[in-house]
Amino acid sequence: MIHTRICDLLGIVHPIILGGMGTATTAPLVAAVSNAGGFGTLGTSAFNAAQLETEIASIRERTEKPFGVNHLLFQIQEDMFRVTLRAQPTVAAFAWARKDQDLREYFQRAHDAGSKVMYMAGEVPEAVRAAEAGADVLVAQGTEAGGHVGWMASLPLVPIMVKAVAPLPVLCAGGVGDGRGLAAALALGAEGVLLGTRFMATQEAPIHLNFKQAIVNSDGHDTVLTEIPDLASQRVWPGAMSRAQRNKFIERWAGREWALRQIAPDVGKQVAAARAAGDIDNASLSFGQDAGLIDAIKSVREVVQDIVAEAEEIIKGRLPSLLR
Ligand SMILES: Cc1cc2nc3c(=O)[nH]c(=O)nc-3n(C[C@H](O)[C@H](O)[C@H](O)COP(=O)(O)O)c2cc1C
Repeated sequence: MIHTRICDLLGIVHPIILGGMGTATTAPLVAAVSNAGGFGTLGTSAFNAAQLETEIASIRERTEKPFGVNHLLFQIQEDMFRVTLRAQPTVAAFAWARKDQDLREYFQRAHDAGSKVMYMAGEVPEAVRAAEAGADVLVAQGTEAGGHVGWMASLPLVPIMVKAVAPLPVLCAGGVGDGRGLAAALALGAEGVLLGTRFMATQEAPIHLNFKQAIVNSDGHDTVLTEIPDLASQRVWPGAMSRAQRNKFIERWAGREWALRQIAPDVGKQVAAARAAGDIDNASLSFGQDAGLIDAIKSVREVVQDIVAEAEEIIKGRLPSLLR
């Protein structure tokens, strides 16, 4: 069995973590990942404080295993953060701080509540900043990932970050969809993987079936880095692009962002309606390049078991056979 330092630190069986995703993680998915021996994380950006409290209670009804709660720091709301602190999750996970934010204060409050602190970064200086502020775990998020990302790919980012924040554990996020990705991440020095896209194409994920099928149908070549979804939702992220499928919605506005800005509220409503209707042409579909590795909607348990089994086979079988 693959066992790393992150398994001991978080009290989990497999070094496989679900990334907290605003619109794509609810209690059933989070609990399913934790119950499968991985680590589920709840995204918070789609909730208000009362909803967050209910959702965390729902996770606790479904599992006694450890889980985390994720906050986007640039838009963190005090009432929401207090809900998380009161709930005392195993991990308070953060990402996307503004440059002027004091990370130390948030991390200290999480530690005082008894939570470990995880911070996701797409560049090494940002990871070092979080390490110096007291983070317990760093996540190296490569640009292959779905959702909001930076510019560095996982292959160089992970080992550079591992060295820069040593001895703190680093997880690899972005581009990992199967056991080959887990084995590669471990070879790069990561202590485990954090997945978004692969868990979106599961039975337990709270997204429309058409979106899950779009991930399955994708060959991984159809995503693009764009600001269009953020312009439509009128939410400016600090220094992020968004990786989304290049569908009709993106094609309609590519190169015409100036025009989109003029009618962003209307377009934002249309995109939200398309999302609710499962309209894959006109909604914003955020997923990563590893969609090309995903060919079936599975249960969370199958995903976790398949990743672990494939990685073990590579480490035990293929890699040793290469040595002379
Ligand atoms: C739809 C979507 C929403 C996301 N929302 C968040 C979020 O709210 N907070 C966060 O830290 N990461 C978020 N992420 C990024 C994931 O945590 C993770 O880094 C990424 O999905 C990993 O790459 P992969 O999709 O290739 O597995 C999101 C990703 C996606 C696809």
